[in-house]
Amino acid sequence: MVKNTKILAISGSIRQKSSNTALMNAIIALSSEPMTFTTYRGLGNLPHFNPDIDIDEGPATVQELRSLLKEADGVLICTPEYGNGVPGVLKNALDWIVSSGEFVNKPTAVISASPSPMGGDKAHASLLLTLQMINAEIVDGGTMIIPHITLKLNQDGVITDSETKKEFLTVLRGLEQACSVR
Ligand code: FNR
Repeated sequence: MVKNTKILAISGSIRQKSSNTALMNAIIALSSEPMTFTTYRGLGNLPHFNPDIDIDEGPATVQELRSLLKEADGVLICTPEYGNGVPGVLKNALDWIVSSGEFVNKPTAVISASPSPMGGDKAHASLLLTLQMINAEIVDGGTMIIPHITLKLNQDGVITDSETKKEFLTVLRGLEQACSVR
């Protein structure tokens, strides 16, 4: 029997009409079995990282994130860039994971998208540094920087750019391959 590959998908934007959430959903729509996705929607509910409140198992919302990560074979992160950096809500979530270790050796794909011609490259680079620090395994073929995202989505948040869709398939293949050898 083929093993089910469980991916936790996280959008670094909590904005309702987020282009990053739209592209994350587009990637999920392109996936096929044995890959299954769970989308994490709790970024905005996590308390600000503070080691003083990381006692016992930590706050309930943090416990939820940690157990979702633990159960996942791999992680997909799609993020915008704010002020040349990683959105605070996403960095905050990763700060909660530094000491608990759920990202160690976890195959992880990282995508940034922005309306700018740079595609959120600085957030992308900074996110990779944090993920490397917490020993995530960055998937071969699993990193993508998407410039001019607003030209590649229609009003309903559907990806209309065929090249971008092709690259999504490469990201999916990379994730699947990395998860299958774990
Ligand atoms: C931005 N945006 C932005 N874009 C970028 O490429 N680099 C940046 O440093 C910033 N900084 C920034 C700050 C603030 C306060 C706002 C409101 C916006 C633009 C950002 O990429 C754009 O709003 C995206 O659409 C946000 O991503 P989602 O929510 O569509 O996924």
